[in-house]
Amino acid sequence: MQIRAARTLVFTQHEGGILGCNYLSKSVFGCDTGLISVLSETSDWTDVEALVEGPFQGDSEAVEALIGYSAVVVEGSELARKEEEYISEWHWNVPTGMMHFCLEDPDIMSIEESEAAQIERVAHEPQPPLFMRNPDSLPRVALPSGGKAATLLELMARRRTVRAAAAPSISLSQLADCLYAGMGITGFTANCVGSLPLGMTPSGGARNPYEAYVFVRNVDGLEPGIYHYSALDHDLARVSDATPRLSELIGGQDWADEMPCMIVLTADLRRTMWKYRDPNAYRVVLIEAGHIGQNVMLAATQHGLTACPTAALSQARIRSLLDLKRITDAPVYAMTLAVPGIEQGAGASIQ
Ligand SMILES: Cc1cc2nc3c(=O)[nH]c(=O)nc-3n(C[C@H](O)[C@H](O)[C@H](O)COP(=O)(O)O)c2cc1C
Repeated sequence: MQIRAARTLVFTQHEGGILGCNYLSKSVFGCDTGLISVLSETSDWTDVEALVEGPFQGDSEAVEALIGYSAVVVEGSELARKEEEYISEWHWNVPTGMMHFCLEDPDIMSIEESEAAQIERVAHEPQPPLFMRNPDSLPRVALPSGGKAATLLELMARRRTVRAAAAPSISLSQLADCLYAGMGITGFTANCVGSLPLGMTPSGGARNPYEAYVFVRNVDGLEPGIYHYSALDHDLARVSDATPRLSELIGGQDWADEMPCMIVLTADLRRTMWKYRDPNAYRVVLIEAGHIGQNVMLAATQHGLTACPTAALSQARIRSLLDLKRITDAPVYAMTLAVPGIEQGAGASIQ
């Protein structure tokens, strides 16, 4: 078996010692200068026996532990493949890669755990104010309110996250409008290298990084399954007949299981990365999910639906269901659609 030091290692001082982190596998391990030195001398594929007999003086368990922590990677392994892909495809810098991969598939707290943590925290750490008012010491200009004619403002004011469904299904035209509002391609522009799609939401450089998939449980006229939305053709293609519980996709939040469908936005980071090598573009991609989500939510509101957003995605599960294999494919944001019902203990489920 051939191994080499992982190419995505970072080291930091921590509580008097050194911690290593493989940010591609999210593995953190204790370390010392001796190990760093061995790793730096093992940058090429090395026979594992030679390593055990050499610097590790017969301690094969120590080498196994390094493999377990992914301080070293095994030739031909999935991690080695992922590492090669990272090296050739990731054009943003190391801190951005660290943030991106370390944020994948986080442990998602249950509502009970989240509430217990907040109750414990509030006892010794007051919450920061969640909005800022203008002080009386400054001159203030009272603004006119939207009034009845302002239908767009009224619509926006009606939008609400309701984590309960009053009806088992929604109609196809309701789903269609939500998808179109968020994702639809409404025109094209061109720059020095080609044509760029335009939609109802802004996109940095018109790079259009998002694709939308719909996990359908109960939408009139659609077989249950997973559908890809073509933003250009405004049509749906069934890419899988899988019908996972929707809560599985969002860290076990079981209110989703009664929702008729869930739209999942996945970013193809390559599209934005191709033009922008500056890692600020990573923020641009995330901002765009908010724009798309808001349009979906407003279209849902206009149809009398509630769209419940979540970013607590179970990325590995979603990737596997959508067969997203590229390292640069990132599930980012999701929203369920439903006729709003009555939440049990309203407000209790705010994450
Ligand atoms: C990025 C983002 C992530 C969210 N994630 C969750 C979530 O995981 N679970 C949930 O129940 N609500 C989630 N929400 C919904 C918020 O809890 C909700 O917007 C908030 O309580 C305010 O209610 P409103 O949407 O009716 O204004 C999320 C909202 C946003 C914008």
